[in-house]
Amino acid sequence: MNKIETDITEELARLKDAGLRRVLKSIESAQGPRVRVKDAGSSKEQLLLCSNDYLGLANHPAIKEALSRGVDEYGVGAGASRLVSGTMAPHRCLEECIKDFFSAEAALLFNSGYNANLGVITALAGRGTEIFSDRLNHASIVDGCILSRAKVHRYSGVESLERKLKSSKTERRLIITEGLFSMDGNFAPLPELLGLAKKYGATLILDDAHAVGALGEYGRGTPEMLGIEAPDIIRVGTFGKAFGTFGAFVTGSSEMIELLVSKSRPFIYTTALPPALAYASLKSLELVIAGTELRARLEENRAQMSQGLKTAGIDTLESESHIIPVIVGSAAKSTEVSRTLENSGLFIQAIRPPTVPEGTSRLRVTLSAAHTKEELSIALGAITSAVDSSLTDKKGA
Ligand SMILES: Cc1ncc(COP(=O)(O)O)c(C=O)c1O
Repeated sequence: MNKIETDITEELARLKDAGLRRVLKSIESAQGPRVRVKDAGSSKEQLLLCSNDYLGLANHPAIKEALSRGVDEYGVGAGASRLVSGTMAPHRCLEECIKDFFSAEAALLFNSGYNANLGVITALAGRGTEIFSDRLNHASIVDGCILSRAKVHRYSGVESLERKLKSSKTERRLIITEGLFSMDGNFAPLPELLGLAKKYGATLILDDAHAVGALGEYGRGTPEMLGIEAPDIIRVGTFGKAFGTFGAFVTGSSEMIELLVSKSRPFIYTTALPPALAYASLKSLELVIAGTELRARLEENRAQMSQGLKTAGIDTLESESHIIPVIVGSAAKSTEVSRTLENSGLFIQAIRPPTVPEGTSRLRVTLSAAHTKEELSIALGAITSAVDSSLTDKKGA
């Protein structure tokens, strides 16, 4: 074995010892509130409480039909990057609809939210830029910041952000935040961030991946939920979560979008999103806009789960949303609790470092409009009992 190969073996052993080795679980059904999980040769049905399919659209018949119509009309592959083999009609049409939905000047599709963050950050920031990034921001934002070569300040709260903005040495300032934080389930202080962006002449990028579709009267995400008009923000959203499909978008000024087309490497140097997927996302957007009832159900489910966990004395951080962290502590314990729950018919993956800080490993419970009250009340009982016995073990250890 050469050095790289021995290092691979050692690194895997180290990850295993630290409870951080990750394994893929096989699901043999479509995504939905219940899935069939493959388990040692057979498969068993489990209640899924860790998906981002917040409105239950991932297996919606109208979206499936649209996808298949899109395939009939436009085939499967996009052939090349849109700058090479041409932009197909569904790409353009989806961009137009997204632009109108968010009342933005323009929109651009990306192949995923990960690519969208990399693409927008690296196109707008460079060596002479200072980026102010919330310490809870997603890995795709962190990676975009690193790739951009800008000077990066991680802030924690509005006061910390203002201190850093005050001592900044450049006029090229970019503030980046998630609208709804993906691991803690709390919201960014958007009005204050907009105020600081204005005061310090900074541009604000809002990654609203977990809120678009799910929050706001028509599903426009955190600004709509808060009743804020924010015409100057750059918004990143994904179709992979509440929209139930795949792909992502950036909205903003026409000039900014034009710059992305010419400069954004994750847009330029990759084969475009399959056109049929864009076609399916158009149907999904229609369902999102008409999805008031789904969002109301999601909110009811959030309230039931959140109140139940709090009443049971479980630490859910400051979660105020359909993402509810159940803090367990060590990586090993969180994997163990996840396994216990699996035996009780619940599929909730453990989230461990480096995704979350050391000592805060957790079950990231996510809710869908498709969960029923009965399912959630069974889940509450199982989670409470699994977490309680893991804490009792710790005391006894
Ligand atoms: C905040 C945030 N932004 C972006 C992404 C990436 O989106 P996508 O899954 O479309 O790549 C995620 C994915 O989990 C996320 O949580």
